[in-house]
This record gives sequence, structure tokens and C-alpha cells, in this order.
Amino acid sequence: MTEMNAASSVEIEALFDEIAAALDQRGYIVLTDILPAELLHDLHQRALSLAEHGYQRAGIGRQSDLHLDNAYRTDEIHWLERHDAAERAYLDWMEQLRLGLNRRLFLGLFDYECHFAHYAPGAFYKRHLDAFRGNTNRVLTTVCYLNPRWDARDGGQLLMYRDEASDAPFLSLQPQAGTLAVFLSDQFPHEVAPARCDRYSIAGWFRVNNSLGALTDPPR
Ligand code: OGA
Ligand code: MN
Repeated sequence: MTEMNAASSVEIEALFDEIAAALDQRGYIVLTDILPAELLHDLHQRALSLAEHGYQRAGIGRQSDLHLDNAYRTDEIHWLERHDAAERAYLDWMEQLRLGLNRRLFLGLFDYECHFAHYAPGAFYKRHLDAFRGNTNRVLTTVCYLNPRWDARDGGQLLMYRDEASDAPFLSLQPQAGTLAVFLSDQFPHEVAPARCDRYSIAGWFRVNNSLGALTDPPR
């Protein structure tokens, strides 16, 4: 929350209005430079510092059905936690966004989970949906990019498709620091084109709680 004091609460409320309106009208928004530059810098440093032992190969599916599939995605990930200051500041920022969106859209967003992702040269994530209708608690996806300099020739674009029938992406995003994409998790198929340089991002999901009785949804 301290990070958010960089901008006035009036600005923050106007920003949340803009995000909520875009999600309501078209299901996605791409924002630039809304997170404090210092926070982005700290997160990038943190992502770099995890290089030796901090990442695990990303799996597909959840928990028991988790498996690795080199044909589908080849990034490596690290889940954010509150004991690291930069990670905590990012989680705090997303908590403000969660509350702001709940006040405006009645999405009932219950919590947020996110991981750093490192795409080494050659790594990719094939076309997929983050959620399947009626079969998930992931409602809203966020992707925050951390690369201070990114050239179009470096590949690694996020390609977004209108729907499952679309062959051509309607959006191609450079994974440039300062860019934050927010979109409905079950609506837009997307992929990460093969990167030619080390690519760092934070992918996250606002979730609803589908738990029954004493059974809480698993956190990831
Ligand atoms: C994901 C994902 C996109 C990106 O992790 O599910 O689609 O641009 N990431 O990193
Ligand atoms: Mn995805």
C-alpha cells in the first residue's frame, strides 16, 4: 500500500474506473506505466536474483494432475510470497486492485495468486486459455512485464486471440517493463511467442472462491 501512495488516491480511483469500464465493455485492457518505476525495478532485480535456484519448471494443470510438457510451455516459475519486500509490494498493489474492481464490478474476486515467469532464449507458451468456463476459479488474468529494454526482434510477444475460432491475433504485446495486461481468464486464448532473450514477467490470477463447506480451493 505504501507503494500506491506514489499516486494520489484520486488518480488511483480514476485508474480503477478505467480498468473496470474496459473489462466490462470488452474484457481486457493494456496499461502502461501504472506501477511505480521503482517497484518495477525491484521486481526485475528480484526476478534476476532467483536465477540460480529460485525457479521451478512450470507445469500444466493443477496439483495432482500437474505434469511437464515441453511441447506446450517451457518457462520456469516462482510463486510470489509476502516475505520478500518487492513481492509483498506487488501483492499489496494487486490487493488494492482486487478491492477496487470488486467495488465496481461485483466480480466477487476472493484472492490473487501470481508467479514470476522466466522464459530463457527459445522458451515459449503455446496457445491456451487460463480458465475453462464453469470449471475454474480463475476469473481475471494479469500479466506484468519486467524487461527494461525489449526489441521487437527479441520475440516473446504475448499474442491474444479474440476467441477460440480466431486464427490471427488481434493484439501483439511486447513484454516491455511498465506494460500490464488484464483480461478475462476464460475469454481470450493467448500464447507467448518464442523469446530470443531472457524474458521476465509476473503472471497472476484473481480468483473466486468455489469452496464447499470446509474444503477451500487449493491456492494454486
Ligand atoms: C501464463 C501466460 C503470458 C505472458 O502464464 O499463463 O499466458 O505474456 N503468460 O507471460
Ligand atoms: Mn496464460
